[in-house]
Amino acid sequence: MTDKIQILQDKIIHSKSIVVLTGAGVSQESGISTFRGEDGLWNDFKPEELANYGSFIKSPKIVWDWYEWRKDIIMNAQPNACHYGLSRIESKKNILIVSQNVDGLHEEAGSKNLIELHGNIWETICIKCMDVQKEKSLHKDIPPDCSLCNGLLRPNVVWFDEIIPASKIDNISEKINHCDLFLILGTSGLVQPASLFGVYAKQKNKYVIEINLDETPNNHFYDLHITDKVGEVFNSLNYDF
Ligand code: APR
Repeated sequence: MTDKIQILQDKIIHSKSIVVLTGAGVSQESGISTFRGEDGLWNDFKPEELANYGSFIKSPKIVWDWYEWRKDIIMNAQPNACHYGLSRIESKKNILIVSQNVDGLHEEAGSKNLIELHGNIWETICIKCMDVQKEKSLHKDIPPDCSLCNGLLRPNVVWFDEIIPASKIDNISEKINHCDLFLILGTSGLVQPASLFGVYAKQKNKYVIEINLDETPNNHFYDLHITDKVGEVFNSLNYDF
């Protein structure tokens, strides 16, 4: 175990309360492309044309087609050592995962104390009656209609032209106020408000560890940066504490 991973191990063991921010890098070792890497989704698609409420209202089928394509890729992805490691820590520690990922793999790995900040690709919400349904399946007839009111269903995810409710952000800030360790796993730190949580944690004098294959804009704020694959790091940890 490298010195840095030993520090991570010790910090996890001696922490009373942990908050974890995860990004697409956590699902990369499950075979799901990230958004901005060399095989990133945004290299081939324009978020403003697809991950966008305005585009959905203009052309629901085009947007749905794209989400069904993404769901088809994610359908067979399995949680990896990072997802399972975080779930094992939850069985021993007070830990909250705030995930930017919509793939549902944290939940599949058994994590319960989870905030899916950008929603969940397996959920639909009706734009008319706001009914939310969750089903790990692909939609044959797209765009589907609401079974309650026949309204138009959309993926229950946060789009680039939408905001995350302030109450959700306040709840996360409150959890950061009371934690003693903040982990930032596999996120480029480019999308707000998630990218601000690590800096906020530092302003509150929390110990912040970032695990990423690359440097990120806020590296210099954090106490420790581990340049490694997050799944491999969690695979090397000892969970018998
Ligand atoms: N281990 C650790 N880090 C990794 C790994 C890995 N196995 N694979 C990739 N990374 C890193 C990349 O170097 C990059 O810094 O994970 C980060 C992924 O960054 P993005 O692709 O930008 O994904 P993310 O930060 O989650 O994007 C945030 O932007 O497009 C929106 O809503 C979307 O939730 C997403 C948000």
